[in-house]
Amino acid sequence: MGSNLTWHDAAVNVNDYRKKNGHHSGVIWLTGLSGSGKSTIANLVNKQLFEKGLQTYLLDGDNIRQGLNSDLGFSAEDRKENIRRIGEVAKLFADSGSIVLTAFISPYQEDRDQVRKLFNKDEFLEVHVDCPVEECEKRDPKGLYKKARKGEIKGFTGVDAPYEAPASPELRLESGSLDEQACADRLVAFLIEKGWVK
Ligand code: PPS
Repeated sequence: MGSNLTWHDAAVNVNDYRKKNGHHSGVIWLTGLSGSGKSTIANLVNKQLFEKGLQTYLLDGDNIRQGLNSDLGFSAEDRKENIRRIGEVAKLFADSGSIVLTAFISPYQEDRDQVRKLFNKDEFLEVHVDCPVEECEKRDPKGLYKKARKGEIKGFTGVDAPYEAPASPELRLESGSLDEQACADRLVAFLIEKGWVK
């Protein structure tokens, strides 16, 4: 497959988009358990950056699974394909000059590492939204842990499917003890430190 394909260099490239936007582009990859606060934090950060006038986009688990990835379930294989496709989509947005936030459980280190490989070193930030499973289960905002405990959902991350915490993420947000706004502020401060945002 692919042997009869030719890569076309674009007349307008990522550097042109960055120059026009006046800022860096890349992916902020949030990973964490269901209920850890990924989506809320990503939305808060996205809003803050948008209000600063930056070109941003948010890709969010539940939403993408109702469209682009509606054919995928939650087996290890389907999660891999889910993350692979999202990585490719994030790459397209980043190449068009956006700062992309993604909020997916992305439980397997290998799948996250495959996505990382699509990017240059200064274009990918892995952010662990780190909340103990006991706390996520206590919060249970969608009632999914309860269903998983009753056996109504099989293969639920943190209950009967694994979550591999990142070994060396660029940033860890302790969302079990910090509230979501504090985590979002910490992430924006980190982006400023990294020079992604002024
Ligand atoms: S993954 O593992 O990255 O492919 O998952 P993701 O695309 O982020 O989708 C997670 C959301 O799907 C709902 N859901 C489940 N999560 C985990 N395990 C199982 N079996 C499952 N079934 C449905 C759940 O609402 C997740 O959303 P969040 O926002 O993480 O709570």
